[in-house]
Amino acid sequence: MNNMKKKLVLFASVTIALASCQTAPKEDYSWIKKGLDVASAQLQLSAEEVDGTGQLPRSIRTGYDMDFLCRQLERDSLTFKDSLRAQPTAEQLGKRRLCGVYDWTSGFFPGSLWYAYELTGNDTLKAEAIQYTNLLNPVRYYKGTHDLGFMINCSYGNAERLAPNDTIAAVMRETADNLCGRFNDSIGAIRSWDFGTWNFPVIIDNMMNLDLLFNVAKATGDNKYKDIAIKHAMTTMHNHFRPDYTCWHVVSYNNDGTVERKQTHQGKNDDSSWARGQAWAVYGYTACYRETNDSTFLNFAVKIADMIMDRVKTDDAIPYWDYDAPVTEETPRDASAASVTASALIELSTMVPDGKKYLDYAEKILKSLSSDAYLAKVGDNQGFILMHSVGSLPNGSEIDTPLNYADYYYLEALKRFMELKKLRVENGELRVIQ
Ligand code: GLY
Repeated sequence: MNNMKKKLVLFASVTIALASCQTAPKEDYSWIKKGLDVASAQLQLSAEEVDGTGQLPRSIRTGYDMDFLCRQLERDSLTFKDSLRAQPTAEQLGKRRLCGVYDWTSGFFPGSLWYAYELTGNDTLKAEAIQYTNLLNPVRYYKGTHDLGFMINCSYGNAERLAPNDTIAAVMRETADNLCGRFNDSIGAIRSWDFGTWNFPVIIDNMMNLDLLFNVAKATGDNKYKDIAIKHAMTTMHNHFRPDYTCWHVVSYNNDGTVERKQTHQGKNDDSSWARGQAWAVYGYTACYRETNDSTFLNFAVKIADMIMDRVKTDDAIPYWDYDAPVTEETPRDASAASVTASALIELSTMVPDGKKYLDYAEKILKSLSSDAYLAKVGDNQGFILMHSVGSLPNGSEIDTPLNYADYYYLEALKRFMELKKLRVENGELRVIQ
């Protein structure tokens, strides 16, 4: 046999061996297939429609009714300028809201394209993922927010996993340097925002920016990134949480590291439990354990997860926008909080002996999100995958609307679930890989 023939025989045997290792799943996972089909179609539709604008899809513009906000916030009246600023014009209402590359959500659309490509093998999605990731290149020079982790890790971070090159690595490192530039040694935390009247605001969302630092620490071998991430997580653990493991949204510090104020920005009131904040928390501490093996983080993530499962009382496991919001027919649920929680709990389920309860809960969330109640019909929903999230109700912004980060974490959760169950899409079919 000449060399070419030998290679062909080897290729054929490997192909047959691989094919024989695949079976149809015994359980009914048609909801996963449905979710992936909708995601691929919607993302491609959005990518085509947004092409050439230099912007990215963020949400759909919704209006709000002041009386509804007062009822949800249990206040007699509201006079806040942020909500008025967010009220869309009649022409904007119901239309896609785009964002620029410096918006905190800019990384989610490219990130969703990367996940959808990874899960389906569709090369069009890969080409679009590259195109929209490249749009974010100037973010490497930006220093004005802690959201750099969201922006770059979800876009370039996935690019580095799936199609690495030196430019991607450089963007990740430069952005991580800029994020570390916001770390204050006396306070032991990374500053979140540069607006407002707080002295040094840190929001629970900031836990999500640590994955960028962990990834760059691994890529460069420089532990300074990891050390800052760990210090931030510890400081947040000490100051952001109540005895019942719910958390405040904003904690601002004095320069000596003492606490200046504990408040909310997007929740019902300062002492309420804003649903997405609780989701950011369980995700963040689960990631910290993955990266450090420090059981302090694992034990903390477990406490938050148990609190979430105890506090969310909805039949479909999709939380209301704030756990303390008055529950009425009109109270909106937040699919984004649910998708972040599902992704975190799938990972957490692999870290503890009684992990099945977290995996089951995450599966319940994912089935709800993949049902007609939340999953869009192809061609509807302005190209977004999921419906019914809440951005910032107290600020009258993005109430009961799709959000690009709900879509991103939904796909990430599907990916984590599929990996755990050894599921893969092969020739358009869901298969179990033995
Ligand atoms: N990081 C802002 C939010 O969760 O809405």
